[in-house]
Amino acid sequence: MALLTILTYPDPRLREVGLPVAIVDNSIRSIVDDMAETMYSAPGIGLAATQVGIPLRIFVVDIAAEGEQSDLRVFINPQIVERRGKHMWREGCLSFPDVAEEVKRAQSVRVKALDRDGRAFELDAQDLLAVAIQHETDHLDGVLMIDQVSPFARRRIGRKLATRARPALSG
Ligand code: NI
Repeated sequence: MALLTILTYPDPRLREVGLPVAIVDNSIRSIVDDMAETMYSAPGIGLAATQVGIPLRIFVVDIAAEGEQSDLRVFINPQIVERRGKHMWREGCLSFPDVAEEVKRAQSVRVKALDRDGRAFELDAQDLLAVAIQHETDHLDGVLMIDQVSPFARRRIGRKLATRARPALSG
């Protein structure tokens, strides 16, 4: 396994739309395993392939709290087929370090996908898991959290990331 480099905004590769995975073979499983390792190392609760420069429709999620048993979920070619309810959820993103913003999301979703073995499954998810699934599915379409916040919040995030990117002055 290997740690992958997580792209940060405004890297243009974050805007790429992931292509469907044709066959879930060992090369795909290897990508999945590297993505999981990268997510845990960050640490984060979700990571999409487009965030590590791999334009394929794959994401991994693990919403287990610290100290809880891990609960890795792999989604290949995910499709959200139903959305119910609405709420605002405070989200972060590994591609927007140190940023947290309220995003409007469905409260629950039904998703269809393939697992790490290429088997089709359906899942009903709500709250944090549903939000993570929506957030990561957006990544696969090149949609970022900055697109879903108010213009005011967008400017604030832009300023914050610009400040962060500035090289430190040596004394
Ligand atoms: Ni993200």
